[in-house]
Amino acid sequence: MLHGPNLNLLGTREQSIYCSQSLYSIDSAWTKLADDLAVEVDIRQSNSEGELVNWIQESGSGYQGIIINPAAYTHTSIAIRDAIAAVGLPTVEVHLSNIQQREPFRHHSHVAGVALGQISGLGPAGYLLALRGLHEHLSAQRKLKKPSAASRRQKSASR
Ligand code: DQA
Repeated sequence: MLHGPNLNLLGTREQSIYCSQSLYSIDSAWTKLADDLAVEVDIRQSNSEGELVNWIQESGSGYQGIIINPAAYTHTSIAIRDAIAAVGLPTVEVHLSNIQQREPFRHHSHVAGVALGQISGLGPAGYLLALRGLHEHLSAQRKLKKPSAASRRQKSASR
C-alpha cells in the first residue's frame, strides 16, 4: 500500500474533508484486515513523486498488487501512471474524499485509466474495501489459471 504526499498529516490536516484518523490508525486497521485475510502486506508513505515511482517499479518483483492513494499526484503525475502501467500489477486507487465533488482540478485522475478500480469518498473504509476487492480479484484470477479437478480428469481421459 502506497500513500502519497501530505497523507502523513492525516488526523491534523483538513479533518472535515479527509478524516480525523491518523495515518497510523488507518494503517493499523488495514494491517489487521490483512492478517485476517492471511495476506502479506507492506505499507509506505512518501511526499516525493520519484520515491513513489521507484517503489512502484520495485513492486514488479515480489508483489501481486498495489493499493495506492496518490493524493495530489493523482491529478498531475503521468510518471506514476506510467510506472503502474509498466509493472502491470492490478492496482486499486483510493481517495478518502470524493474527488468528483471537489474542485474541478481534482476531477481528473491520471491513475484511473490504468487502475483495476477506484474507491473515492468513503473515508478510511475505502482502504479496507480496496484490500478486500484486490484480494477477491487475485483469488478469482488464481482459480481461472488453475484448471479444476474435473477439467484435469477430462484432459487425461482424452489422452
Ligand atoms: C486525496 C484527494 C486529493 O485530491 C488530495 O490532493 C489529497 C488526498 C484523498 O484521499 O481524498 O491529498 O487523494
